[in-house]
Amino acid sequence: MSEKVYDVTTEWSSRAYIDDAKYREMYAASLKDPVAFWGEEGKRIHWFTPYTKVKNTSFDPHNVSIKWYEDGVTNVAYNCLDRHLATRGDQVAIIWEGDNPDEDKKITYRELYEEVCRFANVLKARGVKKGDRVTIYLPMIPEAAYAMLACARIGAVHSVVFGGFSPDSLAGRIEDAGSTVVVTADEGLRGGRKVPLKLNADAAADRAGGVESIIVVRRTGGSVPMRSGRDVFYDEMAKNMPAECAAAEMNAEDPLFILYTSGSTGKPKGVLHTTGGYLVYAAMTHQYVFDYHDGDIYWCTADVGWVTGHSYIVYGPLANGATTLMFEGVPNYPTIGRFWEVIDKHKVNIFYTAPTAIRSLMQAGEEPVKKTSRASLRLLGSVGEPINPEAWEWYHRVVGDDRCPIVDTWWQTETGGILITPLPGATKLKPGSATRPFFGVVPEVVDANGLVLDGACEGNLVLADSWPGQMRTVYGDHDRFVQTYFATYAGKYFTGDGCRRDADGFYWITGRVDDVINVSGHRMGTAEVESALVAHPKVSEAAVVGYPHDIKGQGIYAYVTLMSGFEPSEELRKELVNWVRKEIGPIASPDLIQFAPGLPKTRSGKIMRRILRKIAEDEFGNLGDTSTLADPGVVDDLIGNRQNRR
Ligand code: WT7
Repeated sequence: MSEKVYDVTTEWSSRAYIDDAKYREMYAASLKDPVAFWGEEGKRIHWFTPYTKVKNTSFDPHNVSIKWYEDGVTNVAYNCLDRHLATRGDQVAIIWEGDNPDEDKKITYRELYEEVCRFANVLKARGVKKGDRVTIYLPMIPEAAYAMLACARIGAVHSVVFGGFSPDSLAGRIEDAGSTVVVTADEGLRGGRKVPLKLNADAAADRAGGVESIIVVRRTGGSVPMRSGRDVFYDEMAKNMPAECAAAEMNAEDPLFILYTSGSTGKPKGVLHTTGGYLVYAAMTHQYVFDYHDGDIYWCTADVGWVTGHSYIVYGPLANGATTLMFEGVPNYPTIGRFWEVIDKHKVNIFYTAPTAIRSLMQAGEEPVKKTSRASLRLLGSVGEPINPEAWEWYHRVVGDDRCPIVDTWWQTETGGILITPLPGATKLKPGSATRPFFGVVPEVVDANGLVLDGACEGNLVLADSWPGQMRTVYGDHDRFVQTYFATYAGKYFTGDGCRRDADGFYWITGRVDDVINVSGHRMGTAEVESALVAHPKVSEAAVVGYPHDIKGQGIYAYVTLMSGFEPSEELRKELVNWVRKEIGPIASPDLIQFAPGLPKTRSGKIMRRILRKIAEDEFGNLGDTSTLADPGVVDDLIGNRQNRR
């Protein structure tokens, strides 16, 4: 691994909120007296009724309970909107850049306030009440932010489902959340192609049952079937709604949103985040990690369907009164230089994207980047997966002209906000390292037995204490929450990631150590892809593992055993790929499928994934002990028929 170090420049240490001395002082204070520290930080948002209790958290597996600011009363939309009207009503809140470069829009804080109030009134008119779950299945249009904030305003709980998910995946999420209301669009638009969102929502509603209302935002104007009584066009309802709507009084621990994410087993789980602690943490990290100052133009390229979009397009920036850019399109449309062109067009100062995007844009060479100015850029960010030093260096040198620090931010859907990251005025940078913990975060490295390791070491990453943005439970299944995160290493939150800590105390995340694959920064459970494959009538068994992929970070490698009577073929391979796309969504498409007459199993029938992983990774010399296999002969066949990477 690269051990190159980039020191903090004096320009940065003098202009940033936090320099190294301040970091050390604040970090020590946050650990020494979390109640005093977070009690003070909680004041960065407005409370209708101030809290008197700051922290009440337990990681004890017999009694996992996480509460922050528990007797405080506030409202997230109030904090993102009303609070700013007096001082920045005319300031741009959202810059929207369409898929088509000729389409864009600027929405001020006052306009945003009015749009959100109207949206909230539409939801109310459709019967939505405090505590109800609303599923949002929208493209990257301003209405996605309006809908989220409208839910927050009236105390409804949103569940945003990424527009790339299939009707089946959407149906599962609607059902699990018990949503009776779905907000969608006629069609989405990405890279010049239309996405049939309303048709997908219809199919999902048929499958899930219980959907009483579908609110359809017009994006393309394409004609879509509307079921009378159930379906309404948003614009037709909104035009008659008042631009005022009272913000509901919410307890700090009332749910704000559910976001589904893949785990190592079973169906995706509904990660539940609540109101007060989440907002405090999203706002604070957004301010300090990106060193956000008034007037800065900030762009996070994520989709609102992922947690990055929740915390760092919508809630963190808007709570801070920032100008946040929302991009509907993709990095390579209409040209491979689109990101850099948008940066110049809107004078973006802070740019936050994913390693997979950087790696794919790197392939097009420097020219598309260099023909843009990017003079407005001051800070670059990375999120979603480990960034390889080569991509880091390219991002730094080519995109940032050797001038912009890179914050490599490690966190998870579950953590609500960034936990391990450099602060640009405080932390020297090592390409590939997420560096140091944010305030209040207590990372520990443990070995397989849970022994806490000291100094420079490598093992599994756990967190020894709570932070305000932490998820509170798995929606509807608290036991699964406890089992997934607190049972492996009793008393600690287990991240599922491996990591190395170097002699400077810097953290290097090495990737998932469970059966989760990180494909282009998106989490995919191997079990989910397997169950999609075995649902195909010609498949009898499937085992899915990750393997290193040049662009995606990890690719999906599927070993498939066919039912007797069916023969492997290229056609069948394509059929299976399309099948998985249809069952889950394009992000779950297997990159490589190997037809295998048998899978390596123990005598008790358990598939030995370790061996499958090694073969997919091309590490045959290193298969480990295969003597416990029921039929060691299958291994030779698997090696002989290994699919070539890329
Ligand atoms: C997993 C969480 C957090 C928002 C996007 C992904 C990996 C995330 C980094 C990073 C190394 C990273 C981890 C983590 N990950 N950021 N900077 N360096 N790995 O959220 O879908 O919940 O996935 O993404 O493996 O556990 P997510």
